[in-house]
Amino acid sequence: MVHSVEGRKYLEGSRAPVTEEVTAHNLSVTGQIPEELEGRWLRNGPNPYGSVDPKTYHWFLGDGMIHGVRLRDGKAEWYRNRWVRGTDLAKRLGEEPPEGKCFRGSGFSPNTSVIGHNGLTLALVEAGVSPMSLTYDLETIGYTNFEGTLPGAFTAHTKFDPIAEELHGVCYAYPDIPDRVQHVIVGMDNRVTKVTDVPLEGMPMIHDMSLTEKYALIYDLPVCVDIEMAMAGKRFPFAWSDEHEPRVGLLPRDGEAKDIIWCEAPKCYVFHPVNAFDLETSEGNSKVVVDLCRFDRMFHSDLHGPYESIPKLARWTIDPSTRTVSEEIVSEQSQDFPTHDPRVVARKHRYAYTSWLDSGSTCRTDMETGEIIHHDHGEGRFGGEPLFVPREESSDEEDGWVIVCVNDVNQGPAELVILDGNDITGKPVARIHLPQRVPDGFHGSWIPDCSTL
Ligand SMILES: [Fe+2]
Repeated sequence: MVHSVEGRKYLEGSRAPVTEEVTAHNLSVTGQIPEELEGRWLRNGPNPYGSVDPKTYHWFLGDGMIHGVRLRDGKAEWYRNRWVRGTDLAKRLGEEPPEGKCFRGSGFSPNTSVIGHNGLTLALVEAGVSPMSLTYDLETIGYTNFEGTLPGAFTAHTKFDPIAEELHGVCYAYPDIPDRVQHVIVGMDNRVTKVTDVPLEGMPMIHDMSLTEKYALIYDLPVCVDIEMAMAGKRFPFAWSDEHEPRVGLLPRDGEAKDIIWCEAPKCYVFHPVNAFDLETSEGNSKVVVDLCRFDRMFHSDLHGPYESIPKLARWTIDPSTRTVSEEIVSEQSQDFPTHDPRVVARKHRYAYTSWLDSGSTCRTDMETGEIIHHDHGEGRFGGEPLFVPREESSDEEDGWVIVCVNDVNQGPAELVILDGNDITGKPVARIHLPQRVPDGFHGSWIPDCSTL
């Protein structure tokens, strides 16, 4: 293993943390915000408070900070950014600790994603930490365990099935629970309705999951806890493992661990699938199709962050009868942070929205025709995770808006850009001018006011 790259590159430039919490009202806008957009755009990411040691810093370990913009009546009513007050950070800030208890006493500030679920606003992270509940205005309330129904920790990446009205996640909490992960379903009453213990060896990092109408997909891929690194203390403990055989598990949604169909997967690492669906073939077989962004390797030479190889958009076709996965690379372009129309979770999707990591363009790939279109945000401007918001009265997957935070790599203030889904390459519908930089971060959500999401 090569320990060559310091964590400094994850603390500088467009990734440099901001030092202030800002509240701004009535933001200036170029263009016109669609009046149908009423709610909040929120995004989480690491933003370490105070100084950190770049020799040991890992991008995934910075204190979480939420950036948010609230839209209503065609206006951007506010922007605010707030640290997520985990117990450790609250202490460093000299503040009262958050309410509730985090799983196994972790004091971490969830830094990876933020979702809405049935009136809750939740900051999330994987690896042994409970969800953190926030107010509408992004102030920290406290850790939650879904009214005592969550038996372990939670995950950063959930999948909400809008038909079944179930929130799914695959959760792990090494080393406290070293020998298994848990597939968890949360209902619309904010209580866990099903937990499936899935025995696994080697403590693999399972960052995300996929869902079809039949199955929950479990990605058992070769990034695992490195015991030597874990013993060294506060370092990020995961590393590439050549010995760990990659596989993906198909867990029937109403089944148990014994029912999982494990299929041999390509040797790679996947942080983020786009979406998955069941496919009935003309021969009468049932397969699973999943689109995803896959890296050849991960945490092998760079132990401070994820960018040592290029994530490519790929389609996996999983055959449960032969327990095999066939892989088609859809594009050689470096891209990640995939999203899709939220109405088609677990069902056939047409479009994958991604961020191109070299140019910062916002891309839409038509998975049926292969057409790739992208919006170039301009020189020195980088678009993060794109979020598709469907127009309410339409069922077309292109009919809506794409909301994306665009950073100025030269340290200028960020913009929240709204693209017309029917005209991705065209001039933005609106550019909302934020009062400060938004450091490169991870994942967010559009949370409509009128919705239970
Ligand atoms: Fe992620």
